[in-house]
Amino acid sequence: MPGTSNASGGKRPVELGAVQETLFIPLAARARETAKRRPLLRDPKAVEMIGEIDYPVEKYGPGPGSSITVLRTAIVDSWVRAFLAEHPAGTVVEIGTGLNTRFERVDNGTVHWVDLDLPDTIALRRRFFADSERRRTVAASVLDEEWLRTVEECPGPYFFVAEGVLVYLPQNEAAQALTRIAHRFPGALVALDTYPQRLLEKQHEQAVHKQMEARWAWSCDDPRSLERLGMRVVEAASVTRPPRAFRARLPLRFRLLLPLADRLLRGMFNITLFRTEQR
Ligand SMILES: C[S@@+](CC[C@H](N)C(=O)[O-])C[C@H]1O[C@@H](n2cnc3c(N)ncnc32)[C@H](O)[C@@H]1O
Repeated sequence: MPGTSNASGGKRPVELGAVQETLFIPLAARARETAKRRPLLRDPKAVEMIGEIDYPVEKYGPGPGSSITVLRTAIVDSWVRAFLAEHPAGTVVEIGTGLNTRFERVDNGTVHWVDLDLPDTIALRRRFFADSERRRTVAASVLDEEWLRTVEECPGPYFFVAEGVLVYLPQNEAAQALTRIAHRFPGALVALDTYPQRLLEKQHEQAVHKQMEARWAWSCDDPRSLERLGMRVVEAASVTRPPRAFRARLPLRFRLLLPLADRLLRGMFNITLFRTEQR
């Protein structure tokens, strides 16, 4: 049974739901990237957490999936940094934060931050992360409404990140969550990843192969179709076709591989930055 080490070096049990366990996919990818000679991002805390949690992360082994996940995270980091350059004391809301360390990567000393996830994930997260004056952790589903009030107590403007999360919700629930954010936070930025139906089918095949219980539930062939929920596309990117400014700063191995990957995987790993409508 997965666990984390306690002070005496033993293992404490960690009980996570099937979807919650998927937090180990990006965690393992960031830890693996950190060990590379010229990493796209550095995440020593991911390495530390993996060292302390008894979980078979090897099943999310190296390979293209790992690079895709790290690229996705790095693209979102770059959007959040650009937001903070303009709004150094704004609030970033990490929906379905898992064991993400984006705060550690982008903290400018003034940003406000809300990390939101389901109660069992947050119980695990609290073993590694402490709240502060600028950082709050909330145990709730993105489908609840109460957490929106916590966000409203933080200073605007707001940037909502939902990375690797909404895809696990049925379409109507993903749409409901986004509609609520759009309605309550006009002018906010929202970054999220979407996947077409054929990739959802592939994920289901792989989940069987890797004996993973969690299944993607929501496919979205065209991220622009989400504009109907009360937001406008600010930047449409994909992992294989990142924003231009971001691409220029990539390590050489990514700059060489991405054009080829894009030819094979165009439109498969969309990541889109929206702005909710002003009212
Ligand atoms: C693939 S992980 C992504 C974690 C994190 N965003 C990252 O990139 O490292 C999916 C996360 O979504 C969370 N999650 C799933 N359903 C959720 C819900 N209804 N509300 C909030 N979080 C949810 C899970 O607990 C898990 O931490």
